[in-house]
Amino acid sequence: MAKDDRFIITGLGGAKTLRGELVIGGAKNEVLKVLAGSILFCDELTLTNVPEIEDVWRMIELLKGLGIKVRQLEKNKYHLETKGLNNFSLASEISKKLRASIVVTGPLLARLGKVVFPYPGGCVIGKRPIDLFLSGFEKMGATITENEEGFVIEASRGKLQGAEIFFKNQSVTATETFIMAGVLAEGQTVLKNCALEPEIVSLGEWLNECGAKITGLGTSTITIHGGDLLVGEGKTHETLADRIEAGSFLILGALTAADLLIKKCRPEHLDALIAYLSEAGVKIEIGFDWIKVINKGDEKFTALDVKTHEYPGFPTDLQAPFAIFLTQADGQSYIFETIFEGRLNYFEALGRMGAKVKVLDSHRAIIDGPTPLSGREIESPDLRAGLAYVLAAIIASDESVVHNVEYIDRGYEEIEKRLASLGLDIKRISGNCS
Ligand code: EPU
Repeated sequence: MAKDDRFIITGLGGAKTLRGELVIGGAKNEVLKVLAGSILFCDELTLTNVPEIEDVWRMIELLKGLGIKVRQLEKNKYHLETKGLNNFSLASEISKKLRASIVVTGPLLARLGKVVFPYPGGCVIGKRPIDLFLSGFEKMGATITENEEGFVIEASRGKLQGAEIFFKNQSVTATETFIMAGVLAEGQTVLKNCALEPEIVSLGEWLNECGAKITGLGTSTITIHGGDLLVGEGKTHETLADRIEAGSFLILGALTAADLLIKKCRPEHLDALIAYLSEAGVKIEIGFDWIKVINKGDEKFTALDVKTHEYPGFPTDLQAPFAIFLTQADGQSYIFETIFEGRLNYFEALGRMGAKVKVLDSHRAIIDGPTPLSGREIESPDLRAGLAYVLAAIIASDESVVHNVEYIDRGYEEIEKRLASLGLDIKRISGNCS
């Protein structure tokens, strides 16, 4: 998947004709942390249902740079061996491109007593500070030196100390980082105002299975009793189903499908989206691990006000795809993005496609619908907005060109093949764009 890849999509012009099944892959935002968690292990572990996406490959490169051996056993299955782990410096080039690299700092500092890392990168969706990480490490007895390149953090006498840490914002990656730091710290760590995302629970349960002592997962107070390195020999972790991928496909189904079955997902992790779509008038059937959308083709959806919120509220990662849905809903909708202030940048291009949208400020926007969209050349600004543009291109009339596909590749495995299997005309063109 080269840089400058683009998708050429022939839009359906509002028709709901796609038909078939999509199988949900492993969750990017879980497996990246489980990979980082391998640092806590003394021996080896096996991971299955690993999505073959850019961010996973970047994380694997990062771990290899630390001395961990990673082998692909087959597609979506990896084996990691951690005995050779000896480097406390995160490769700068990779870290700058991967926000999740910040999560590696917790287990690495806890294991080696020192970590050196640059300012972390990732999708440009607002300020994305790391103050919670720095103050948390200080609470655990570490000293921080900042220089032009980034940070050097050292634990006093080589070992983190258990501490009580209150997060002033509920942060997914900070919660995960300090759970993992606590696993090898001396004594007890208590984390307050934790994020509740299912990916965090799944990570914690896996660590517990391998010897960690973490309680309170899925609640706002998590306690970790520090102990020895974890043992993964003979153990396999299956990555949790990706709720954001499933949610994106559910929105796709509502907008474009005669009949779409989404398989191998966890519907209970999508309560907020399902409630909103149902309220708007989308007919959804739900089973134990599947969701089905059936459209007659002439349904009218009603406008809604949506406010993003930490889990179990409406996920910020589905805000942009959901905005595409709202362009086709009847009436005025209002979007309030409460988590990140840079996540409405994609609206400008939606306006060029014919959507009636107005951005009020960096957190709020209004959408008037329904409006037919027209195919255009558009550039993905980040992963989730990129997927939203693909959705917009599918409902639009005529052809659209979606640039910066490398953003979409960071989070969705072989997306064009999967969409083509539903009857969509979508092609990937590689190489420099004109
Ligand atoms: N925050 C701080 N200080 C910090 C860290 C975060 O103030 O030190 C604030 C942020 O500015 C934000 C809020 O806390 O306002 C929540 O951000 P959080 O830390 O939860 O976001 P994140 O951990 O950086 C993860 C996902 C994102 C997802 C958010 C929210 C990973 C690798 N990333 O980011 O996923 O949007 O949680 O659910 O897990 C994506 O997959 O496209 C993506 C961006």
